[in-house]
Amino acid sequence: MKITVIGAGNVGATTAQRLAEKEYGDIVLVDIVEGLPQGKGLDLMEAGPIYNYNCKIVGTNSYEETDNSDLVVITSGLPRKPGMSRDDLVKVNADIVKSVVGQVVEKSPDAILIVVSNPLDVMTYVTYKVSKFPRERVIGMAGVLDTSRMRNFIAMELNVSVENVHTFVLGGHGDTMVPLARYTTVAGIPVTELIPEDRLDAIVKRTRDGGAEIVSLLKTGSAFYAPAASIVEMIDSIVKDKKKILPCTVLCNGEYGFYDIFIGLPVKLGKRGLEQIIEIKLNKEESEALKKSADAVKKLCQGISF
Ligand code: LAC
Repeated sequence: MKITVIGAGNVGATTAQRLAEKEYGDIVLVDIVEGLPQGKGLDLMEAGPIYNYNCKIVGTNSYEETDNSDLVVITSGLPRKPGMSRDDLVKVNADIVKSVVGQVVEKSPDAILIVVSNPLDVMTYVTYKVSKFPRERVIGMAGVLDTSRMRNFIAMELNVSVENVHTFVLGGHGDTMVPLARYTTVAGIPVTELIPEDRLDAIVKRTRDGGAEIVSLLKTGSAFYAPAASIVEMIDSIVKDKKKILPCTVLCNGEYGFYDIFIGLPVKLGKRGLEQIIEIKLNKEESEALKKSADAVKKLCQGISF
């Protein structure tokens, strides 16, 4: 297995670290900044004897070493600054992602692409358009992160193990995301029976603002531990063909009534990448929220030329 991570910033480097610790295969870390991927790659290799991982980690500024990757994680682009929304990054990051994807697919025409750059749903669409890959091999990471945040907040509220909490956050990875309280359970118990409505509303809001909360605390850069963990969760299901159901950003071909748009939905991930989109029943309010989110993503995509 060969996994390439594009972008050796906090998200890319932390992802490479977690992937090395899992020993899925060899890792190539790419960045345009000279020395950065080489330095981080070597540093990670030097931790191998302590963590007992035997994979090779190559840091590079060129795409030569990425050839025939099985999986490519795209983290390239600028992170937002305090006060910015993810959508404010659309123009600058679209150009970066277009250039990266062109070079990636030339070297690895059979890879599965996992997109992480923001605004996430739009960048996944850009990746799909530029790569011309089938939708099964272009998947965006966002729902796993948003869901993990919501699980954490619920576990904190109830003082229970995070392992007991299951939930879904669908829609775009932005201010219109759709955390589904109705599909949230704690050890199988509907969360609505455990947390009063006003507290649950506050958790939903904190989840929606989860990325901005970290940005405002860090002041430079955005979250990376939870995003990297979320990427690895998706890769784990693909590499081990686990067929986990995870919320991921995928292309709709009529599912949920949407066409030609990338948005976060529950999907099954296996060795072929996206193996199935699961259509769960939504009530009127949830459907409307998802539609509103899809409209916001669509609007942002219309400003991009190919
Ligand atoms: C976040 C950014 C990375 O949600 O989108 O933290």
